[in-house]
Amino acid sequence: MKKITKAVFPVAGMGSRFLPATKATAKEMLPVVDKPLIQYAVEEAVAAGITDMIFITGRNKRAIEDHFDKAYELEATLEAQGKKELLRIVQEVVPKNINCIYIRQAEPLGLGHAVLCAQPIVQEEPFAVILADDLIDGDTAVMKQMVDVFARHQCSVLGVQDVPRSHTKQYGIVSATNLEPNIEKVHAIVEKPKPEEAPSTLAVVGRYILTPRIFKHLKEIQPGAGGEIQLTDGIAALMHYESFLAYRFDGMRYDCGSKLGYLKAQVAFGLKHEEIRSEFAAYLKELA
Ligand code: UTP
Repeated sequence: MKKITKAVFPVAGMGSRFLPATKATAKEMLPVVDKPLIQYAVEEAVAAGITDMIFITGRNKRAIEDHFDKAYELEATLEAQGKKELLRIVQEVVPKNINCIYIRQAEPLGLGHAVLCAQPIVQEEPFAVILADDLIDGDTAVMKQMVDVFARHQCSVLGVQDVPRSHTKQYGIVSATNLEPNIEKVHAIVEKPKPEEAPSTLAVVGRYILTPRIFKHLKEIQPGAGGEIQLTDGIAALMHYESFLAYRFDGMRYDCGSKLGYLKAQVAFGLKHEEIRSEFAAYLKELA
């Protein structure tokens, strides 16, 4: 029985929809209330029992590396000021026994290429991929739900949700048949189909468990939609040799790669945040 111990976080995208905020920092460092998106993603991986966090970084890698590094000066200052709670928050960014590994993607050639960059570390094991800009709020961490599906079926698992047909052009869309509650057997996948050509409205949203054979296919495929090496195309090639499941996860997803989705996440997480929720709720009532 194979276990998932490694997660790949591709954080080398351009983040052009958030310029100028992303001019000097990665999109995944944008905070929702008080935590950067990438920290939510790492916490989700930790909740799934994953111990090796592999970041595929680009030109703005420093902020991410610094975020998951020990901050000696900051900790010393907080200690000296007796700010114990803040010190705890800073120290808990990286839980104990977690390894952070950084790999540079020299050019943003696409998500598939970013995942391929992780091969020297992942090697011959099945692994998770988490896109931090898809923030998913679930009672059980979504990657934990997917790891449980993997444990039972021992094959690749794609996190999916239904989207409006008019939105299919933003996603990888699967055609699938129902296997058991919330789990579909995938027959085909296509990247960013036009609404009239989409095989269904079941979209892959930023959570994957993949077998290492994906690397061979990512090496072989040509640039696809948008001139990028697409992870979806690698998955489509691998699907000829291995089974894929689509898992309808239990949780609320916010597309924090878009301005509207990001603002919705701020509101939802603000309304749940212990420190501000009642004042924030009162403020929103005032606006309504
Ligand atoms: P997106 O499609 O959201 O692209 O990438 P983007 O460049 O980040 O954002 P926009 O569209 O310009 O606003 C999906 C995920 O894949 C990563 C991104 O960091 C994001 O997590 N990615 C994308 C890479 O790591 N490398 C790439 O070459 C492309």
